[in-house]
Amino acid sequence: MTWPHGPLVLAPMAGGPGSPELVAAVSEAGFFGFLPAGYLSATDLESRITAIRALTAAPFGVNVFVPSPDSPLAHTEAMGYAARLAPWAADAGVELGRPSWDDDGYETKVDLLVGNPVPVVSFTFGWPSGHDVERLQDVGSQVWVTINDPAETEWAQELGVDGVVAQGWEAGGHRGGPVDNGEEHLPTAALLAAVRARTELPVLAAGGVMTGQEARALLEGGASAVAFGTAFLGCPEAVLAPVHLHALTHREGTTVTRAFTGRSARALRTTWTDVIGEGAPAAYPHVHHLTAPLRAHGKATGEADLVHLWAGEGHARLRPMPAADLARELHPNRLRFSALSDRNPLMKPVKELAEAVRKDRRPVSENNPLLTAEKVASTWISTWWEGYRLARDAMTEATFLAAYGSPVLQAMVGLGTPAAPTQRRIERDLAREAIATHWQADLEKRFDVGGLVEAVIRSIMYVRLPQRAVDERGFRVLEAIRKLQTANRRPTFGELKAMFRDQYLLLRLDEERAVRSIPRLLPGDGQQRAAALAAIREVTGASGDDTDETRRRTQRIADLFDAPSPRR
Ligand SMILES: Cc1cc2nc3c(=O)[nH]c(=O)nc-3n(C[C@H](O)[C@H](O)[C@H](O)COP(=O)(O)O)c2cc1C
Repeated sequence: MTWPHGPLVLAPMAGGPGSPELVAAVSEAGFFGFLPAGYLSATDLESRITAIRALTAAPFGVNVFVPSPDSPLAHTEAMGYAARLAPWAADAGVELGRPSWDDDGYETKVDLLVGNPVPVVSFTFGWPSGHDVERLQDVGSQVWVTINDPAETEWAQELGVDGVVAQGWEAGGHRGGPVDNGEEHLPTAALLAAVRARTELPVLAAGGVMTGQEARALLEGGASAVAFGTAFLGCPEAVLAPVHLHALTHREGTTVTRAFTGRSARALRTTWTDVIGEGAPAAYPHVHHLTAPLRAHGKATGEADLVHLWAGEGHARLRPMPAADLARELHPNRLRFSALSDRNPLMKPVKELAEAVRKDRRPVSENNPLLTAEKVASTWISTWWEGYRLARDAMTEATFLAAYGSPVLQAMVGLGTPAAPTQRRIERDLAREAIATHWQADLEKRFDVGGLVEAVIRSIMYVRLPQRAVDERGFRVLEAIRKLQTANRRPTFGELKAMFRDQYLLLRLDEERAVRSIPRLLPGDGQQRAAALAAIREVTGASGDDTDETRRRTQRIADLFDAPSPRR
């Protein structure tokens, strides 16, 4: 799969800037524009899609926020943060918002996009389920996900997406990847190179790009396309609050902070970001709702220190001008676009001619030979598309079976278990057997090796195995596990993946022994064990399809976690 829409992209920018007018203007000038769906209702999203289609026939994409799981801890932490902000709110005469969780209308938006497809749907803040990826691809949309860490590349690939947005550290606005651990990640060029080394998928590079030359360098570095965000914030179509626009060109220095929404985002430095520093909790969207009235007040009154001034590191090089002009300036083919623009005096006669032709258009008779030829061509094209669709489906199925024939991968997407019917008979060969024997000998030594994380993964898999689902929403598992770790000890995705594989294989090798060994992996600290058990329950109960067997298994795990640790 490649990226068929040209090398330059308008990044999605929710919260106002990514207006239909901005998307349409850049699309007309040769960019591929993204309409942000974040913070909108599905109805508003639909009317914006309609508005863009009324303004341009050019293709464009839609960007959707993926909700992260709610947790009581996030609410408590947001309440603690509210106490810190209370004096500021009192000074401003504003009541803070109520910290709360919502899913940003995720399901309805995906349903809308399935019913009313656009060429590309990109996701941010997390990833869609494999089912949603397929639903969108089935209606002809490409599906892209955002990553900040090269180790997330393989996960994206296994999800079956058509491409990845590699968002570098310089980028303005939120970190869009599935994990927000608050740590610094790679800048755009280095992230692109690292992702490129791991996948053949097309990569859209984003972050800190302000000029055509910078875009060209990333394209030469292997990007299939390059996205501009901050560069377009100065365009009138972006309808930015005046206080934000002024700050972009008058303030210096940006920082990545959770102060405004509870999710890391790059903004201009203000008193708010300086005072709070890293002190805001990782509690999105609770903090977003909490601070919203204060931020709205800052926008309305022009108090920059009360506003989330999203900005990429390149903000000082902003060139406020109409979006189409900027797009043409940035475009490597800008000569072609400005030559064909109706601002070019040489194009004036062409414009007049086009208008005259439009005016003189008459309906043709049914037996007009040109009309007949057009109908034949159109039938031919739709037959060809149908053939293509059938071939594509057959190929997708073959690729799916080839990729997910492996038991490890089946375990990770929740398909394969000892009880599950085999998807496909995989040919045995000597090499495979040698590897299996080696693995088995190695695994024999690993039943008692590991700690709390291994115990949690093993327990979740044990509970969910009879339902043939480790958990389709694997990221819930990851989120739960990562939350259990202190920030400086969080395992990387690669490490987690290896742990998933090992724990799954241990359960397959000897389920009873693997479960009996769990207490030996647990720490002595009762609080840690209780938190881990709560995380296990949160994940295993998430699908709401408990059976007697899963309840029995959950109880067994609870008993093991409650028992005094044999380690102490
Ligand atoms: C004001 C603003 C809003 C943004 N909103 C979104 C969004 O809704 N979805 C998303 O995936 N990324 C969002 N981003 C990130 C951009 O899509 C993109 O990754 C970033 O702007 C690229 O870096 P740059 O700003 O340095 O060009 C936003 C960025 C900004 C500046």
